[in-house]
Amino acid sequence: MVSPPMRVLCIVGARPNFMKMAPALRALRTYRELTVTLVHTGQHYDAEMSESFFEQLGVPQPDHRLEVGSATHAVQTARVMERLEPLLMELTPDVVVVCGDVNSTLAAALAASKLHIPVAHIEAGLRSYDRRMPEEINRVLVDQISEILYTTEKSAKANLQREGIDEDKVVFVGNLMIDSLHAALPHAVPAAEQVERRFGREALPRLSGGYAVLTLHRPSNVDEPKTFAGILDAVETISSECPVIFPVHPRTAGRIADLGRTLPKVLMTTPVSYREMVGLIRDARLVLTDSGGLQEETTALGVPCLTLRENTERPITVEEGTNRVVGTDPARIVEEARAAMGGRKAGRVPEGWDGAAAQRLAAHLLGWLRARKALA
Ligand code: UD1
Repeated sequence: MVSPPMRVLCIVGARPNFMKMAPALRALRTYRELTVTLVHTGQHYDAEMSESFFEQLGVPQPDHRLEVGSATHAVQTARVMERLEPLLMELTPDVVVVCGDVNSTLAAALAASKLHIPVAHIEAGLRSYDRRMPEEINRVLVDQISEILYTTEKSAKANLQREGIDEDKVVFVGNLMIDSLHAALPHAVPAAEQVERRFGREALPRLSGGYAVLTLHRPSNVDEPKTFAGILDAVETISSECPVIFPVHPRTAGRIADLGRTLPKVLMTTPVSYREMVGLIRDARLVLTDSGGLQEETTALGVPCLTLRENTERPITVEEGTNRVVGTDPARIVEEARAAMGGRKAGRVPEGWDGAAAQRLAAHLLGWLRARKALA
């Protein structure tokens, strides 16, 4: 008798989830023993924050959409839980797979674990030790209620052990986001092509000496008017020495409008697609960012990165990679940017950031599900 397939339910919600889940979906779907279903919570919903990623990452359309949209943290988290719970009860998955640290990740992990459905967490164990970050709260809580903790770097295991998590649950598979990066590189859109399309042919000569890329979206940076104004002052100074391309997150666009600020020399644009972003960072002299993903992607590509935060939950990007955590003081940012453009910080690609992390994850998850089934 052929036994029925085991059910895996994967959840995504916001932009940084898509490039982590895409390779996992692909790898899991190669196993006939598994039925893999995808739910999109709808935390991110703009075409350029969501749909374009599905197309470019080759992810089939989600099987279910919860369409929760934007709201306060409590409301957004509650909406995901409320809409996901009946679906979990209907589908009765054998495991729920979540990734990263966004509100959708926490909400899905909570809803599943309360129904006694085991949770597997991709990118477990990262810690900034800064509880003012909403993501840090999400990380700590998701890891506490997960049954399998897939880690991207070795520091994660020590963090999890410190929190009393059984080391048998922790599985180092490497970095799935780098799997997506490898897959996207042959399709990366060159910066010159993007600049010509978005700013016109006359902007092209400005790129001849290279350019920097800027992204900002953390509430601690953009929602604090004094901090944000200081960062923009630094960016203005840098942009008079080297062109700065700045794809602006919707939250950040709102805060720039609130400040009534213009940055005439900066090449500001709406959020770019994944292949565009990969093209921008691959060819950049420098990346300035408060994103977690970009810290890792620049390390994988050997591109200098300055993190405009006081800390990072991804220390390997500093210890082994090309990242430097420089804070938000404008004078320091300018000084570090000049230094970074003057000479590259040598870096190496961390272990397990090799494009094959999803295969390792899928093989492990299949074995785990089989073992569990055998015990049932
Ligand atoms: C969320 C994640 C953050 C991640 C980031 C990537 C949490 C707590 N934060 O932050 O970890 O790094 O995504 O972008 O989950 N908006 C739109 N269109 C969209 C989505 C958002 O206009 O498609 C606007 C809305 O005004 C919304 C604001 O952006 O209120 C913030 O969106 P939200 O998902 O709450 O948080 P992010 O700042 O995107």
